[in-house]
Amino acid sequence: MGKVPLENDAKEKKTEFSLVRVKSTWKRTRGTKANMDTADCVSDAKIYESITEQGTSWTVVSPIVFTYKVTETHNLLDPCNDTLLLGQITDPQQLEDIKKSSKPLKRFIVVDQEVYKIYGSKLTEYLEANNVLYKILALPTTEENKSMDIALKIIEEVNNFSLDRRKEPIIAMGGGVCLDIVGLAASLYRRRTPYIRVPTTLLSYIDASVGAKTGVNFANCKNKLGAYVPPVAVFLDLSFIQTIPRRHISNGLAEMLKMALMKHRGLFELLEKHGLMLLDTKFQTDKSIDGHNRLQAASRATRLAITTMLEELAPNLWEDDLNRLVDFGHLISPALEMKVLPSLLHGEAVNIDMSYMVYVSQESGLLTEEEKQRIISCMVGLELPVWHEACTMELIQKSLQDRLKHSGGLIRMPLPVGLGQADIFNDTSYETLHRAYEKWRDELSVSHCTSSIRSVKL
Ligand SMILES: NC(=O)c1ccc[n+]([C@@H]2O[C@H](COP(=O)([O-])OP(=O)(O)OC[C@H]3O[C@@H](n4cnc5c(N)ncnc54)[C@H](O)[C@@H]3O)[C@@H](O)[C@H]2O)c1
Ligand SMILES: [Zn+2]
Repeated sequence: MGKVPLENDAKEKKTEFSLVRVKSTWKRTRGTKANMDTADCVSDAKIYESITEQGTSWTVVSPIVFTYKVTETHNLLDPCNDTLLLGQITDPQQLEDIKKSSKPLKRFIVVDQEVYKIYGSKLTEYLEANNVLYKILALPTTEENKSMDIALKIIEEVNNFSLDRRKEPIIAMGGGVCLDIVGLAASLYRRRTPYIRVPTTLLSYIDASVGAKTGVNFANCKNKLGAYVPPVAVFLDLSFIQTIPRRHISNGLAEMLKMALMKHRGLFELLEKHGLMLLDTKFQTDKSIDGHNRLQAASRATRLAITTMLEELAPNLWEDDLNRLVDFGHLISPALEMKVLPSLLHGEAVNIDMSYMVYVSQESGLLTEEEKQRIISCMVGLELPVWHEACTMELIQKSLQDRLKHSGGLIRMPLPVGLGQADIFNDTSYETLHRAYEKWRDELSVSHCTSSIRSVKL
């Protein structure tokens, strides 16, 4: 609320203003009750004015709220399911008006080329059956192509198609690469065009689709260009996952394991117990009793991964708070991923980073030897690499130094402290990092040779 001007000292006069709207015009006000009562609308924004001998300065505080829906659905491409076209609309009146209207809906859809090969005809049938005016742009959205060039290509095509920015969201359908690129293109086009994410890989289902980050690689760095603009909606259909290769299931399981190690012992135990079954069945179920049990494990695992992720993201959507548990596995992996591109998938690089950090944790006295062994065995059971020769001590040091530059002079290291719990540490010594590295290398480059061979073979 408004304050009486503050006479801090003779030289500065500070005033806090609220903003009220009266008949289409916004005005600043000191915020007395009388002023508020006559207003049509009172904004959450504030203007702080400071007058000194040098002149006046205004500090604007303008809270911006993002609202987005993450919705599970079945048979997203069944013509009777209107989620893909209308699921983002939250206002019942608007929904009813659209349903009553005879005007065809218009949609621009960017699809990963491989996804298009499998689901393109179903998608086309769906759009035709719903009388949609559409353009489908199928693109090779691979990690090597994840650049500004492809984002600009999308923008050009969107511009030719001429969308109504308010009512016709762009739809992105594919893995994390496709969703990240389209999200960036949408956030640039006309400064912010609404977009929808439809994840088709496990990794994007539980991770890349649920937050606000978009991006492309730049200057040989992962996601160096990007924005924090969430989609208007995310539509989750587990059935897409059935066609991804087994290696990509493991890839997604790595990000799931990250949330388990940081926040949820139950999820860790679920992955320990059912990880292999989830890999074998690709999170799919049928109507048998066995199928029912699988459904329980698959949906419990994905729901826990998503809710634990949303808990960490929602209060820190723009990552202003640098103490982030979701950064576990993401301190060294970006450099490792870029160094060996395209031989390691994102989740695999993340897992190698997590595997090393588990050793750091144990070396710091935060995990017992038994807990460490359980975690590494779980990783191996999920068919994830736990070691990579390109992950040298030099790379680790360089990554941590880079981190130091960008995180306020402290290396904030999320580390597990027991199973399913974690904390952030910023005082891990070089000696501890080095001792952990030697132990990690000695134990995992030899004894877990099947997984290390696998990581070399990739
Ligand atoms: N924005 C975020 O918060 C966030 C979070 C995590 C990861 N990411 C990004 O996500 C990317 C990794 O995502 P990804 O693992 O999904 O990789 P991806 O997008 O490269 O997809 C993996 C492969 O699967 C294919 N594919 C996708 N869906 C398929 C399906 N249903 N059936 C058959 N094949 C299919 C793709 O063509 C591709 O070859 C990385 O670039 C990473 O930086 C972003
Ligand atoms: Zn990640």
